Amino acid sequence: MANNGEGKQNEVSRHQEVGHKSLLQSDALYQYILETSVYPREPESMKELREITAKHPWNLMTTSADEGQFLSMLLKLINAKNTMEIGVFTGYSLLATALALPEDGKILAMDINRENYELGLPVIEKAGLAHKIDFREGPALPALDQMIEDGKYHGSFDFIFVDADKDNYLNYHKRLIELVKVGGVIGYDNTLWNGSVVAPPDAPLRKYVRYYRDFVLELNKALAADPRIEICMLPVGDGIPICRRVS
Ligand SMILES: C[S@@+](CC[C@H](N)C(=O)[O-])C[C@H]1O[C@@H](n2cnc3c(N)ncnc32)[C@H](O)[C@@H]1O
Repeated sequence: MANNGEGKQNEVSRHQEVGHKSLLQSDALYQYILETSVYPREPESMKELREITAKHPWNLMTTSADEGQFLSMLLKLINAKNTMEIGVFTGYSLLATALALPEDGKILAMDINRENYELGLPVIEKAGLAHKIDFREGPALPALDQMIEDGKYHGSFDFIFVDADKDNYLNYHKRLIELVKVGGVIGYDNTLWNGSVVAPPDAPLRKYVRYYRDFVLELNKALAADPRIEICMLPVGDGIPICRRVS
């Protein structure tokens, strides 16, 4: 890419076009990763869904293509079969998961908004993956409480991806640690929160960034101190600690 003002401008707009979130400080480097390693290997259905989502006014919420690729790799490495996703939006990470799971794999997917899920559903159906998904509309927290009360879900999930209301992340963790199996993995998305976790107290942060920042900081601290898990914070996308339950 040309290293001039116009080139820089193009990089920035291509960045925004895909609605991505990256902690990389160089737009050119991020674009290089996407164009060299991610887009050439992105399944056609994910590309189609990414392009549909790019037109959505809230496209910034979507999981980025490099993170989608990472999730897919992780799920295959751990041979995940039974998974959960909290925060579906139009379904990009859901589709990445559905593609990575075996034919009899299952995803319990929760979101308070069915409309956005239905925007991406035709792509998931066309790819022949809808049978793997059990979509439940509504807030996740009471649904998790119900599952814990029920008893039969304890220690049953191989992988859980959390990408919804950050102010509940710690509440989710308290429940999910019972639902994920020993040896299973939980990933909490956006836990470097646009780099704001290291912003000075007087930094000019957007209101929503400032609001959720404290919850993200609290979660990161709690995860680091939790002896029931091993953790590895990855600066992929907006930061995702991989938490492997050990007890
Ligand atoms: C960042 S987006 C998820 C992005 C998605 N993983 C993807 O790949 O596009 C967050 C989603 O969480 C949902 N959400 C917000 N609060 C929720 C709650 N209490 N329970 C379940 N979902 C919630 C929103 O409706 C939104 O679709």
